[in-house]
Amino acid sequence: MKVGIFGYGNMGSSLALCIGRTIGRENTIVYDIDESKRNKAVEDGFGSAIDPYFLCDVSDIILIAVKPKDVESLLSDISEKIREKLIVSIVAGFSIERIVSLTGGEKIIRVMPNVNVSVGKGTIAYTCGGGVSKEDEENFLKVFSGCGDIFKIKEDLMNSFTALCGSGPAFVSQFVRALTLAGIREGFDRQTSLKLVLSLVEGTVTLMKEKDVDPDDIVYMVSSPAGTTIEGVRYMEEKGFGGIVINTVREARKRAENIG
Ligand SMILES: NC(=O)c1ccc[n+]([C@@H]2O[C@H](COP(=O)([O-])OP(=O)(O)OC[C@H]3O[C@@H](n4cnc5c(N)ncnc54)[C@H](OP(=O)(O)O)[C@@H]3O)[C@@H](O)[C@H]2O)c1
Repeated sequence: MKVGIFGYGNMGSSLALCIGRTIGRENTIVYDIDESKRNKAVEDGFGSAIDPYFLCDVSDIILIAVKPKDVESLLSDISEKIREKLIVSIVAGFSIERIVSLTGGEKIIRVMPNVNVSVGKGTIAYTCGGGVSKEDEENFLKVFSGCGDIFKIKEDLMNSFTALCGSGPAFVSQFVRALTLAGIREGFDRQTSLKLVLSLVEGTVTLMKEKDVDPDDIVYMVSSPAGTTIEGVRYMEEKGFGGIVINTVREARKRAENIG
């Protein structure tokens, strides 16, 4: 199976690395409008197409990883070549319906990855258009299996997913940053504080996953009666930490809706 990737920017190159690990870099072929990016793809061990039509001809799956502003002209240009192929689009805010109307194709999978795919630990949502067969979906899952955790969702939750998990790395980083500052406030140097916080976050996530416990379980586990943890938890509750986080995601989702 060969995957043709349009756009070798931030996401296209990260996904190419993950996909290349699964199907081989020689079967992962790239076309970018920018010659220097095509050369970079070759240096990285991928195939490179000199024009978009050749990429369509040699690929079984077409992955669209260009910016939203460029997608309409690209899809209109290659529509005849990709009509019968499986088209996978990661373009934010671009619906399956719009891709169908631009290409006339029916086999479309809309995907929303996040930046964590750059280390093969992405959180990825997808939704299938009406013409996608079981076999197409299995091929897609196989090709993306090295990119991270993959979740099937309804298309009407795509903006919510974008806000929660697409923007999520920034929100998690805000919390990590705040805890790192707290460590500095307590007397640790910056580097030590960050290392402590990263270990703390990683350990807590591993605890939840391996012991199959949820956040509430851990809060009760760590909060002893009249102890130190409950004082910290009480302060977070009093200041509305939970509400701030919920509204953060809501604001991001509203913005995704407006852009879409
Ligand atoms: N970044 C994220 O965290 C993230 C997360 C989820 C989804 N996405 C989606 O991923 C897509 C790509 O984002 P990105 O951050 O990777 O963008 P990017 O770094 O700008 O990469 C896009 C690449 O595509 C090239 N390009 C433009 N028109 C093209 C064409 N007709 N054929 C082939 N290549 C073309 C661009 O070249 P020029 O620079 O010369 O125009 C650029 O090298 C976007 O649609 C975005 O919504 C991004």
